[in-house]
This record gives sequence, C-alpha cells and structure tokens, in this order.
Amino acid sequence: MADSAWERVVLVGFMGSGKSTVGRRLARRLEWVFVDLDEAVEAAAGMKVEELFRACGEPAFRQLEADAGAVAAAGTRVVIAPGGGWSLVPGRLDDLPEGSLTVWLRVTPATAVRRAIGTRLVRPLLAGPDPVTRASELLEEREQAYSRARLHLDADMASPTSLVNEIVAYMERR
Ligand code: S3P
Repeated sequence: MADSAWERVVLVGFMGSGKSTVGRRLARRLEWVFVDLDEAVEAAAGMKVEELFRACGEPAFRQLEADAGAVAAAGTRVVIAPGGGWSLVPGRLDDLPEGSLTVWLRVTPATAVRRAIGTRLVRPLLAGPDPVTRASELLEEREQAYSRARLHLDADMASPTSLVNEIVAYMERR
C-alpha cells in the first residue's frame, strides 16, 4: 500500500450498513486514522446525536456534521464514516479531494433496521411505529446519492472482515 495514490476512504450508506464497524477495522488494517462523524459531532456539541436532534433540530445537527466532515476530508491517511445523511448533499461525494475512495455499503431496509435497533444508538429518523417502512422510504429517496460512490459493496450478508478485504484489494488494484 506504500505507493498507493489513495489518501482517504469515505464509507457511505444507510444507518445500520456497518460504516463505523467496517471503517474502524479498515483504519486499523491500513494504520490510518479513523473518524466517525457522528462521534465528532457529539464531541463538538457536547451531547448525543439524538439529544441534538431533540434540543436544536436536524438543521443544527446537519451544520455540525458538515463542519466535522470538511475537517475530516481535509486530512490524509484517514478513513471516514459519516452518518447516513451526510452524503445526500449534492456534490458532497463528487467534490471530495483527489485521492478519496468512496465506498457504498449497500443493505436492505430490513437489515438496516435490525442492525440499527441492535445497537444502543438511537436513530431519530427511524423512530416511529414502523421503522422498516420508514427505512424503505428513506432508502428509496437516498439511493441515487449513495450510488455516486465509486465502489459499491453488498453489505447485507458480508462480514466486516470480508468487506475490509474487498476494500483493501480494490485499493491495491487501482
Ligand atoms: C442519520 C444517520 C445517523 C446519524 C443521524 C442521522 C441519517 O448515523 O447521523 O441519526 O440521516 O441517516 P448512522 O448512519 O451512523 O446511523
């Protein structure tokens, strides 16, 4: 990997697609820095994402998320796991600096909800009586934006290790 032209990896995809888990492992494997944008926002705001949504509203969260993303994307040898909404802003993936590998971890709404509910993290956008239907609607709205990523991986059945292997293999080929 020493002579690779890649300088950062940005993982995109829906809530529960495994961005944070895969990102953390990938960074460890590459010996790069890992940045989880939700965690960066929480550190900046001094509160959890769900509290921020509740206390200040989604626009305030999106602004902090944009700021944290800009700082992270200016770095090199960094793996970035943004929240599922970060990549929806037009141009966000296309305007990343040269050397950025964007990867879409694709999951079905059912998998996304099962995994999102399986963690202790609260996803305000999936709150409500029927999270799978809500996830299907959101995913349909978002798929086009996620598909701007360069590498698309099926993350529904794949283990984090195999996804890391696929990403590293791709980085070594190009
Ligand atoms: C969001 C995804 C969440 C978090 C926030 C909004 C979204 O992150 O940023 O709840 O709009 O998809 P994860 O994708 O890490 O769950």
